[in-house]
Amino acid sequence: MSRPALVVTGASEGIGLAIAGVFAAKTGHPVMMIARRSEPLEAAARSITDRHGVTTIPLALDITGTDAAQIIETTLAAHGLHAEILINNAGVGLGGTFAGHDEATIANLIDLNVRALTLLTRHFLIGMLARRSGGIINVGSLGGFAPGPYQAAYYASKAYVASLTRALSDETAGSGVHLCVVTPGPVETAFHARMGANESFYRKLMPAMTADAVAHATWRGWRLGFRVIQPGLFTPLLSILMRITPWLLLVPIVGWLLQKRYAVKG
Ligand SMILES: NC(=O)c1ccc[n+]([C@@H]2O[C@H](COP(=O)([O-])OP(=O)(O)OC[C@H]3O[C@@H](n4cnc5c(N)ncnc54)[C@H](OP(=O)(O)O)[C@@H]3O)[C@@H](O)[C@H]2O)c1
Repeated sequence: MSRPALVVTGASEGIGLAIAGVFAAKTGHPVMMIARRSEPLEAAARSITDRHGVTTIPLALDITGTDAAQIIETTLAAHGLHAEILINNAGVGLGGTFAGHDEATIANLIDLNVRALTLLTRHFLIGMLARRSGGIINVGSLGGFAPGPYQAAYYASKAYVASLTRALSDETAGSGVHLCVVTPGPVETAFHARMGANESFYRKLMPAMTADAVAHATWRGWRLGFRVIQPGLFTPLLSILMRITPWLLLVPIVGWLLQKRYAVKG
């Protein structure tokens, strides 16, 4: 019989690495850590083994590949493991005007944030339902609560993640399997620089959480059986404001925050 394991995508740095560490330490389960670049991934895996004494299985894999779920499953099986908790964390942002991005860049965002997350969820949910245990944590964003001019495709992708996860958590209620979405506001990682958003107003005006704080909040929310986990104090407050403010007002405000500062001075 196979043993339970954690599977974390995008685990070589940022929020994924922090979640892998906290969940591995709390559960003691072996953790499969996935990212594309093997060097930082191997180093991240070693750091978790050293700190928490758990088995780590680094898997260098682009999860947008069509056979990603099968490769993960086969690698787990080779270690006598199954996915008890899947954490769909890998994601990419995209800052700037929508029309200014080429098709391949937008397609890559949809492939990773939407398609890969959906197919991994489906693949591993089937086994969890059969075992009547475990669950899936999808990493969304505070951005999933509103349209986001200048990060339009990214915000839309996170609205999809929230919608899919909330629907599935309802569909699977009582099955022994738990699904939840985590919706952090800004977090201090390399993510913002990668999408060219460090010049945006929100980076100056909004406080950013640490990845560790997000990981601990995710663990607490998971243990408490929350369907939507909103780390910190600021994030739940903002999400309430975003839900009660009419979009006629909200969307231009979000757009102003996401716009690059030099574009306004222009
Ligand atoms: N940072 C924030 O402010 C913030 C706020 C709310 C939500 N989030 C969400 O939180 C998640 C993690 O964000 P982060 O800030 O930790 O990002 P990050 O620091 O940029 O890390 C991204 C991770 O994903 C991996 N990755 C990227 N593309 C991949 C692919 N195709 N296949 C496998 N792995 C891939 C990266 O490693 P490789 O490059 O080696 O593949 C890296 O490990 C994302 O879903 C993001 O949307 C972030």
